[in-house]
Order: sequence, then C-alpha cells, then structure tokens
Amino acid sequence: MKTERLDKILASQNTGTRKEVGAIIRAGRVSVNGEVARRPDDKVDPENALIALDGVPLTVKKHLYLMMNKPDGVLSASRDPKARTVVDLLPREWQRRGIFPAGRLDRDTEGLLILTDDGAFAHRMLAPRSHVTKWYEARLAHPVSEDDVRAFRLGVELNDMTCLPAELTAAEGDGPAALVKVREGKYHQVKRMFLARENEVLKLRRVRIGGVALDASLAPGEVRELAPDEQKLIFEDRIL
Ligand code: URA
Repeated sequence: MKTERLDKILASQNTGTRKEVGAIIRAGRVSVNGEVARRPDDKVDPENALIALDGVPLTVKKHLYLMMNKPDGVLSASRDPKARTVVDLLPREWQRRGIFPAGRLDRDTEGLLILTDDGAFAHRMLAPRSHVTKWYEARLAHPVSEDDVRAFRLGVELNDMTCLPAELTAAEGDGPAALVKVREGKYHQVKRMFLARENEVLKLRRVRIGGVALDASLAPGEVRELAPDEQKLIFEDRIL
C-alpha cells in the first residue's frame, strides 16, 4: 500500500493549491472512508481510499492529460532558464511535477499541444510506429500545385530522409494556404517538406491529432483537460 499526504493528493486533482487544500481540509470539508479528515498531513492510500469533498466522492486520477492551444512565441518544453514555456502557461494546480509537452511544436507554431505526466501515453503517441496523424493548417508563400499534392502523397525527399506519404489539400485563406496530414513528427518537418517543394510556410497551426481536434473555444494559451474518450481517440483517425 502506497500512502501519500492528503493535501498532496487533493492538490494533484485540481482541488486547489496545497495551501488552499490545507484550509479546505482544516475546515472539515474532506472525508476519508466516511470519517472527516482534519489534518493536511494525514497519510492516505490514493488508490484505495474513498475521498470525498463536500460529500462528493473524488475519483483520484493517477495522471493528467491536457489540451493546450499553444500560442506563438512560447517554447514547447517543461522549463527553460531564459524562455517562457508551455508549462509556465499552465494554471498553478496543473503545474504538477513531471508534466511535459507530449511532442514539440516550433516556437512560432500555434495550436493543439498535449501535455501529460504519463510517460507511457506520450511515448505511445510519439513512437514512429504508432503513426498517429497530425493535421496542420499552413499559410504559404505560394499556392499548392497538383505536383506538390502528388509529391506529398509519394513521400517528400528531404536531405536526410524520405518522408512517409502525407496528404496535402489546397485551402483558401488570406493568401495561399493548405491542410497537411502527416504521420510522423521530425524536426521542422512540415516546413522542410514545403521548402523541398520550393515553397515556404509563413504560419503553421496544428488543428488535430488522431481523432482529437483542437477545441475551438480555447483561446491561445488556454488549456483544458482531455476527456477520457479523447485520450483514446488520439490513437484513432475517427473524430467524435
Ligand atoms: N512541422 C514543423 O515544421 N513545425 C512544427 O512545429 C510542427 C511540424
């Protein structure tokens, strides 16, 4: 049986900061196995104890899965001595130990980013053999041609690799634009694919991973939890 401090368990479940949670416990609002708990440092087994807040049982979540609408200008990393990172943008109660971005977007790329403290989940999502599809909207210097579409479908040749087949669809925006679906995530991949076609990405935004689309209600920098069915849909192409 692995026990943890009650205030730490509650803080890890978005109930508040450690300090706020301490006050909630001392106010007698938390019960453990039906008994009112009074001490934030009580040791509790989070997997087996029945913890309730104001009489409502908590389902203690082992891991956190978040969707962020990453803004331009922020680093996809946990911490950085000089630059603002996506983890710095999280509300304090989600800045739990071990949270990290599952995959990287370039500093100037916006859109869907998953953050988690579940290493196995991130590994599965990022493993090349998982072939999870990532969808990007790109604003381009030049319009997409039929030859580009064919080249993406066959696998664009880069200096050091041949890309897996990707889907390219011309789109309309303020200027030339496209939707690109890739099944791998090499460094600067989408930008390099367009450069190889003598085009240039002016703006890149990830809009979907597997079956999970970026929540249109999230403003840049905003975050919400992934619903349990979304955690599974990441690995599928089906969309809800
Ligand atoms: N491809 C890129 O070039 N940049 C990103 O941020 C993501 C995919």
